[in-house]
Amino acid sequence: MEPSFLESSDFAATQARHLMQCWASQRGYAPIPVAETRGCWIHTSDGRRIFDLRSAHECINLGFNHPHVLEAMRRQMDKVVYVTDDFATEPTARLVQKLAHLCPGKPDKKVFLSQSGASAVEAAIKAARMYQYNRVFGGPIRPDDIDAPRQYPYPYKIISRYRSWHGATAGAASASGDPRRWFQEPFTVPGIVFAPDAHPYRSHFCNGSEGVAAQLQFLEYLIEQEGGSNKVAAVLIEPVVGSNGIIPPPPGYLAGLRKLCDDWNLLLIADETMTGLGRTGRMLALEHDGIEPDILVLGKALGAYCPLAATIFSETVSRSFDDHIFGHGQSFSGHALGCAAAVASLEVIEADGFLERVRVDGEYLGKALRELANRHPSVGDVRGLGFFWTLELVKDRETKEPLRRFTEKYTPTVVGRLSDFLLRERQVYVPSDKFGIWVVPPLVATRSELDFVVEAIDAALDIADAELG
Ligand SMILES: Cc1ncc(COP(=O)(O)O)c(C=O)c1O
Repeated sequence: MEPSFLESSDFAATQARHLMQCWASQRGYAPIPVAETRGCWIHTSDGRRIFDLRSAHECINLGFNHPHVLEAMRRQMDKVVYVTDDFATEPTARLVQKLAHLCPGKPDKKVFLSQSGASAVEAAIKAARMYQYNRVFGGPIRPDDIDAPRQYPYPYKIISRYRSWHGATAGAASASGDPRRWFQEPFTVPGIVFAPDAHPYRSHFCNGSEGVAAQLQFLEYLIEQEGGSNKVAAVLIEPVVGSNGIIPPPPGYLAGLRKLCDDWNLLLIADETMTGLGRTGRMLALEHDGIEPDILVLGKALGAYCPLAATIFSETVSRSFDDHIFGHGQSFSGHALGCAAAVASLEVIEADGFLERVRVDGEYLGKALRELANRHPSVGDVRGLGFFWTLELVKDRETKEPLRRFTEKYTPTVVGRLSDFLLRERQVYVPSDKFGIWVVPPLVATRSELDFVVEAIDAALDIADAELG
């Protein structure tokens, strides 16, 4: 018989027993019981106050329990929580209109709403392929022709990059270079080709504009060798790489990529699941380079405290489905409560001065982190923008030999010890599965909270420095 939950005050133990933790072997799973959350802080049942330096995996850009968002959710809950897309609700309509306008390009776009970054990427990949079929073979369609089985043998290849993560479902994981793709192998979805990374600190090309030109030249060679417009459907990128190292692209790279896509009739899919909604100091990371995507993916922070993701299709892509079936969908699409939370969250981010403050305080944070690099030889590189920074740790600055290799995702390394120290000794939560230390605070963090974080990292870096002998 199921034991009565109410009899057990130790809900953390119950959770540890029955919840399958993400990306972890389950033995030793020991979640910390939480009493409440406020702003940037998690208050634990045993009386600690922990700063969330990963913004709950980048899902709470506005910090926890933002009053404007909670109020909008409360109001919406009394009206409509969810109806299917055969019906319309005000928050769903407002959100898709807002998203159609915040994504660069002509305004008559369409938005597919789902609940996770992975599902939004799946929709992007599928739609890019269907769009290409419609473009190349589709022709005019009579109503009688609309017959799903006869549609879509298409130019299908998706070009992605090794330093990328697009989610854990089969298609999204197959299109990810991150070692988490290996859990999907050998059953990866066919039709993915990996291009070199745009990584100034660890470039396989020379640095500066010559390096960017060489990289784009190689990419064009790759597109041609893969069959060009007849075979390739789209290029999928994170405009600023997230999980795989927080890597802003070198100047000129994204503009060059956009041009290549135009020249070869490929769609540019920008996955801003992690970087969208103000994280980099602009509503979208793409805005730093003035690039228009053909398909934009948003997730994580979009729904504030509700699981919500969006795949936004440019006017040209949207039009392609006027008379062809958009052969994709899922339950809960357009969830009214999630949309109400998203609209409220966007109102906060769009308010006067909000993003300006993220940019200014982001510079302040970056400067403080660079000062840490001056004192700690284990810091090889400091990079980022807005409230999206990382300190990459190395054994040797000269050779750039990393303290944790890209492929050592699940190998215990000193990086793990740093995050244990930060949590236990400094009350700063920053999960350790990275190449260094992530500095990704909620966008509402104050300067004194940023100072607190930098001071904690300063102490933690001594552990990494000691590793260098
Ligand atoms: C850029 C990017 N795309 C997609 C995803 C997958 O999102 P989700 O975990 O919500 O499926 C992630 C998750 O980290 C991500 O960083």
